[in-house]
Amino acid sequence: MKIRSPIVSVLGHVDHGKTTLLDYIRGSTIADKEAGGITQHIGATEIPNDTIEEICGNFISRLTIKDLIPGLFFIDTPGHAAFTSLRKRGGALADLAILIVDINDGFKPQTYEALNILKMYKTPFIVVANKIDRIFGWETHEGASFSESFNQQAQSVKQELDLKLYELVGTLHKEGFQSERFDRVSNFASQISIIPISARSGEGIIEVLAMLLGLAQEYLTEQLEINEDAPAKGTILEIKEEVGLGLTVDSIIYDGVLRTNDEIALINSSNEVVTTKIRSILRPLPLEEMRDSKKKFRKLDEVVAAAGIKIAAPNLDDVVSGSPLRVLSEEEDVEEQLLKEIEDITINTEDEGLLVKADTLGSLEAVVKLLRDLNIPIREADIGDVSRRDIINSKIALNENEAHGAIIAFNVDVHPNSLDDLSNSDVKLFKGDVIYQIIEDYQEWTDEIER
Ligand code: GTP
Ligand code: NA
Ligand code: MG
Repeated sequence: MKIRSPIVSVLGHVDHGKTTLLDYIRGSTIADKEAGGITQHIGATEIPNDTIEEICGNFISRLTIKDLIPGLFFIDTPGHAAFTSLRKRGGALADLAILIVDINDGFKPQTYEALNILKMYKTPFIVVANKIDRIFGWETHEGASFSESFNQQAQSVKQELDLKLYELVGTLHKEGFQSERFDRVSNFASQISIIPISARSGEGIIEVLAMLLGLAQEYLTEQLEINEDAPAKGTILEIKEEVGLGLTVDSIIYDGVLRTNDEIALINSSNEVVTTKIRSILRPLPLEEMRDSKKKFRKLDEVVAAAGIKIAAPNLDDVVSGSPLRVLSEEEDVEEQLLKEIEDITINTEDEGLLVKADTLGSLEAVVKLLRDLNIPIREADIGDVSRRDIINSKIALNENEAHGAIIAFNVDVHPNSLDDLSNSDVKLFKGDVIYQIIEDYQEWTDEIER
């Protein structure tokens, strides 16, 4: 048995500082000449233990978990869809999450959306209140712990920070979470810790890393055990064309071992299983080289979870992002398992209800779950743009029940050939890239037509 790195997703509204936070952690490593130990690609960054210890020092000396796990595996989410596609059956792929909020901006649509997803998958998380350096009068102490820096601030600044924090506490309370500034938390099982930080100056990042290790130690030790000899399990993040390699898939392997020439099974856009044989496994070179636009990779014969890798193989053209990945084995019916994994989303629909379209399996899954939680019936849920057939079927549904003549379209467009059909019909389209907002608009509309 091996203990893998916990997978930590960083979530939050656009520009609230997700990437800057990870940049700070990676950057301080480069400064300390530790860059060689870090791999980074498609928003997946492994931060080795040495680096965490260097940043945190005494703060983590009591935590035994640091001697068990190789490090922390961070996933920077560029937007909502990417996160929802990063999950395994039965729960989020993320073992832990950071919900980041600009302390001067408060909760925004994507913050709520991220919180809903964490709620849905019961992922343990911390809240990071970012950009404290922009609080009026804040005196920056580069790289200091929050506590050290806070103690040196003027009284009025301290009060201002606490005021802003209690707004976050209030918002979280409305959403069903008890929370407190991390150093005032009395019960970590029932209260969410809020850590004030500046991703730019690094203040508070010590506490963020220490808290993540603490949570991992408390809740994850068993969940992180992997079997190094078992066939790999993973998730596809993106399908990309690479010069000299052809089509490749970027993926996260969260269990087992993956080897060159392994036969793998994936899901295509028609929800069918496709199989292919791995030609090469590529791991990005350390951070410094990654910034070089030439993008070089190191070829590996095998890789053990957790790992972020690029896979080159034939037959990838129709694979969907968010697809699960399994190595075929003689003992198990892997194809059956894969189909079961996606069945919940694509087949379990009611006889009547509305139509849901989304861009990836992961996002489709998230929308369907949110609608189900609200007892909104779903007639059909599928990947891809809104087609003519979708509109014709919705017209039929509309004749039976006005509320069912609606289409929820998340991160997809209406196919150009179908625009006329849509405008000539009474079918109602709810389209956007913020799930939370789309569902709210749909609910407002149904309230109206029921009145
Ligand atoms: P998306 O990936 O686009 O969703 O954004 P993000 O959440 O990754 O935010 P990003 O890291 O790109 O930061 C957005 C802007 O905020 C950048 O200009 C950052 O320099 C700035 N920023 C991030 N953190 C801080 C901080 O702690 N203090 C200050 N003053 N600026 C910050
Ligand atoms: Na940004
Ligand atoms: Mg970013």
